[in-house]
Amino acid sequence: MPKRIFLLFLILSIVTNQSYSGSISIYWGQNVKEGTLADTCTTGKFDYVIIAFLCVFGNNQTPALDLDDHCDPSTNGCVGLADDIRSCQSKKVKVLLSIGGGDGSYYLTSSDDAKKVADYLWNNYLGGKSDSRPFGDAMLDGIDFDIEGGSPQHYDELARRLKNYSSAKKVYLTAAPQCPFLDAYMNQALSTGIFDYIWMQFYNNYCEYKGNASQVKATWDRWTNNVTATKFLLGLLASPEAARSGFIPKDVLISQVLPLIKKTPKYGGVMLWSKYYDYLTGYSSAIKSHV
Ligand SMILES: *[C@@H]1O[C@H](CO)[C@@H](O)[C@H](O)[C@H]1NC(C)=O
Ligand SMILES: *[C@@H]1O[C@H](CO)[C@@H](O)[C@H](O)[C@H]1NC(C)=O
Ligand SMILES: *[C@@H]1O[C@H](CO)[C@@H](O)[C@H](O)[C@H]1NC(C)=O
Repeated sequence: MPKRIFLLFLILSIVTNQSYSGSISIYWGQNVKEGTLADTCTTGKFDYVIIAFLCVFGNNQTPALDLDDHCDPSTNGCVGLADDIRSCQSKKVKVLLSIGGGDGSYYLTSSDDAKKVADYLWNNYLGGKSDSRPFGDAMLDGIDFDIEGGSPQHYDELARRLKNYSSAKKVYLTAAPQCPFLDAYMNQALSTGIFDYIWMQFYNNYCEYKGNASQVKATWDRWTNNVTATKFLLGLLASPEAARSGFIPKDVLISQVLPLIKKTPKYGGVMLWSKYYDYLTGYSSAIKSHV
């Protein structure tokens, strides 16, 4: 194309910020029909895949995973995921383990309990060693906090101790708070300011999109201006069936919501719940080039 037109395009793309592209992170593990972890990464659409959930931990309970029918952790049946995890990582996809979730049994009772859980996570899922690693010798990239029940206590200590292990191997810390500012269960952990990525859940909450993108932007600003983290991602549903409320149709997201938040300095992209619903709707494919 002629030089002058090319320059015009270049300037336009800088001015309209089209050159920056964010990431999509996605939860995997809650419905076997969603496909394998390796296939999820092979799509090339996701920079972070979050395995959900470690739904039992703390209070001296034996920690337990729930990965639907993908595999049975109680009989050591998930070690095969090691190959999938490595395959994802070879494609530059970071794989995280989410602790908590909507239906778990979890609770940190003391500083010592937080320390025990941190050491358990390091030894069994991250860079440490144990005889009973649920995903074999694959090392996850980090831990996602999705604390929706129990108590807010001691998660700051859990986060700090996990982060301390970064001196041996970098531990990413991410979090999925509810969008009302500040999240009651996660405030204490997030106030440490040591989280890498925070993906606020803009669904099942009064601060979700209700027809006015400016209001989503206002909630976004409260989070990004008041909480220290490397990047923030907008947590969304991949289908109206994925939760009670809060689904944003793709055309609304692309034309109204993304243009407002993409301009903000800590914008990192979009988080989706979940791979199963995305498989049903193709939401991530529809939004990918706009994120
Ligand atoms: C983290 O490491 C520092 C320096 O070694 C230490 O002072 C601190 O107590 C550790 N924090 C936790 C929560 O383990
Ligand atoms: C959308 O919300 C903003 C901020 O709360 C408000 O100023 C504006 O009037 C609202 N727009 C409509 C069409 O309701
Ligand atoms: C958070 O940031 C907003 C600006 O987006 C500011 O108005 C507000 O006072 C800050 N603090 C709280 C607690 O919301």
